[in-house]
Amino acid sequence: MTRTAFITGITGQDGSYLTELLLEQGYEVHGSVRRTSTLERSRLAHLYADPDIYNQRLFLHYADLDDPTTLRRILHRVQPQELYHLAGQSHVGLSFEIPETTCEFTAMGTLRLLEILRDLPEPPRFFHATSSEMFGRPAQSPQTESTPLAPINPYGCAKAFATQMVRVYRDSHGLFMVNGILYNHESPRRGENFVTRKICHAAAAIKLKQQKELSLGDTSAQRDWGHARDYVRGMWLALSHAVPGDYVFATGKVHSVQDVIETAFAAVDLDWRDYVRFDSHFLRPSEPLHLVGDASKAKAELGWSPTTSFADLIREMTQAELGALSLKEPQGNA
Ligand code: GDD
Repeated sequence: MTRTAFITGITGQDGSYLTELLLEQGYEVHGSVRRTSTLERSRLAHLYADPDIYNQRLFLHYADLDDPTTLRRILHRVQPQELYHLAGQSHVGLSFEIPETTCEFTAMGTLRLLEILRDLPEPPRFFHATSSEMFGRPAQSPQTESTPLAPINPYGCAKAFATQMVRVYRDSHGLFMVNGILYNHESPRRGENFVTRKICHAAAAIKLKQQKELSLGDTSAQRDWGHARDYVRGMWLALSHAVPGDYVFATGKVHSVQDVIETAFAAVDLDWRDYVRFDSHFLRPSEPLHLVGDASKAKAELGWSPTTSFADLIREMTQAELGALSLKEPQGNA
């Protein structure tokens, strides 16, 4: 029998890769989309264009996390067996500017969804995409599923609340619910205001004389960066497993923003020193420290491990930018 999955945040980086994976696995896929004045669905464009897929095996519904009545109605109608909750305000720096919106969507939006699921006649298996940001500045490195939560920004606080609520609903109501503790994961489909995409885009644009320089904040900041395609496979494996639990998805390797710069500029044969500038505008009021994950549990129980190295990831992203930008006209000299 065909399995049905529902994805919140289907138009995002992870939503688009997960949609492809689930379609490959024979699922019928439904997703909720926000109404906006622009139609931001480019990551799914290749699937819309396929008449055998769009409105045959892939369906989109207007709904939002602050509109539980609509979500409830759609979930009653679709009756998915699996629900992947990827939506939310996901930019950490921005969460200092819009803390209430961040908590409204990322924290309360998740709780509203849990309340809807609890009332469904047959609640779906539920995957919550949570974040390493809820560890803040942990005493323990690498972090595991049992590392204490100590968030240091509004985004991390919202994720910590939602993560703990998922645990409460799993333990108290007996629902099949999983927290995927996701470390940074990137790809050519990453949003343009995240640092890897911003750097890879700039390296390619400077190479093609479409941009003159690149302004960044703290380039000493370190993260555990993997490829988004690997992480959505982990999501699916977690919901296919016999029992629900929490899983860290990470590479276990740390790199700095400076490493991203050097790898991306080397990929286009440029010396980064000629183009990269510091701009305090991109500094954050606080930075997490030592965020690096131990994915041993996901490996042992789900057979999951990352397949793409840091250098290959950054090179792939830079090449993709070169390809996309080559279609545009040059706008000036470097
Ligand atoms: N965005 C951005 N822009 N970050 C910069 C810049 C800049 O110009 N300059 C330096 N950075 C530093 C940030 O201060 C941060 O330390 C690091 O680059 C990574 O920033 P982001 O790419 O914005 O990602 P993030 O680590 O804050 O958050 C991402 O990963 C989390 C998982 O750990 C997001 O995807 C979150 O949604 C996710 O939960």
